[in-house]
Amino acid sequence: MTSPNDHAPTRGAEAVVLVGGRGTRLRPLTLSAPKPMLPTAGVPFLTHLLSRIRAAGITRVVLSTSYQAETFAEYFGDGSRLGLELECVVEPQPLDTAGAIRNVADRLSEPDVLVFNGDVLSGVDLTAMLDAHRSNAADVTLHLVKVADPSRFGCVPTDEHGRVTAFLEKTPDPPVDQVNAGCYAFRREVVEAIPEGRPVSVERETFPGLLESGARLQGHVESSYWLDLGTPAAFARGSADLVLGRAPTGALPGPTGESLVLRDAAIDSTAAVSGGSTVGVGCVVGANARISGSTLFDGARVAEGADVSDSVVGAGAVIGAGVVLSGAVVADGAVIGAGCELLDGARVWPGVELPPCGVRFSHDC
Ligand code: GDD
Ligand code: MG
Repeated sequence: MTSPNDHAPTRGAEAVVLVGGRGTRLRPLTLSAPKPMLPTAGVPFLTHLLSRIRAAGITRVVLSTSYQAETFAEYFGDGSRLGLELECVVEPQPLDTAGAIRNVADRLSEPDVLVFNGDVLSGVDLTAMLDAHRSNAADVTLHLVKVADPSRFGCVPTDEHGRVTAFLEKTPDPPVDQVNAGCYAFRREVVEAIPEGRPVSVERETFPGLLESGARLQGHVESSYWLDLGTPAAFARGSADLVLGRAPTGALPGPTGESLVLRDAAIDSTAAVSGGSTVGVGCVVGANARISGSTLFDGARVAEGADVSDSVVGAGAVIGAGVVLSGAVVADGAVIGAGCELLDGARVWPGVELPPCGVRFSHDC
């Protein structure tokens, strides 16, 4: 018997998602959950990525886990809810990006493996990328994007045929603005050739080594939506873009629009929630409060007159009356006293309580 996917272009491919990083740049949010499990537009971030993989016709997915490994299997189980056959593999020690791919090689059987960084929101056409990988007979094909600041990523120059000529991870003086987007198609034999049982970096060891040995690494440049959610500002932006419908997903638990309000949330009729904000389960938003481009995790409370923009508010956190949060992160259970102002990159650790007017950027209170 044949299934619809037997003839899909993604036939013969399976996916590996790297989700074992500690998410240090997203602390304190990642103290309570690994980055791919943080609530993003109403569901754990990874759900959005998995929905894209499934939509491309790929059903078998291996999650390569390390930090807080058990949380993935607890939430996703065998993946059947998402129409996937999902397997979680736990590393004996953090094996870094290529070590993590090698560690799951014995779970793979198809000729091509799509590998994903588990913190990237992307509209890349996976079917087209796989087609290009096969027609170029490449060993590895890398999704590449152009960004304003390539020094924060893996810089990947290519020649006139799209062939990768170098891989320069987080170099201070990148020669081009084209970077590794964190999505690769590997021939399975190339995965099997990665050294086993020790940490190996795909960016610093595997790709440079493959280039050195003359392997064919092909760039697949695509300019659809792309964002690495590794920093608080990017996390808030990505979540808002999902709600607004700018970032593609098949997993948004509601219609796209100015806001996503989850069940049992109570928003005062004089409050304004906009810019792709998510108001989590059981949240309370008081009179004349303004929430814009922000994510409130479940059970957060925002009091009257507070102004929360481009920020993330953790589960059960309390934001007092008249508080200003702009580009701030408040972790689970923290309490921000009335009249505080937290701006641009401020991070409040879980359970911390700031007294009324305890932190201000203005000279009065
Ligand atoms: N299983 C496992 N084990 N996963 C890991 C480990 C590990 O030891 N270390 C990191 N990861 C996972 C992370 O969870 C993440 O999904 C992915 O590998 C990449 O790690 P990041 O920490 O997010 O890397 P980055 O954002 O600094 O840089 C990477 O992504 C950029 C694109 O977003 C690099 O691949 C860059 O070259 C790339 O430009
Ligand atoms: Mg990242």
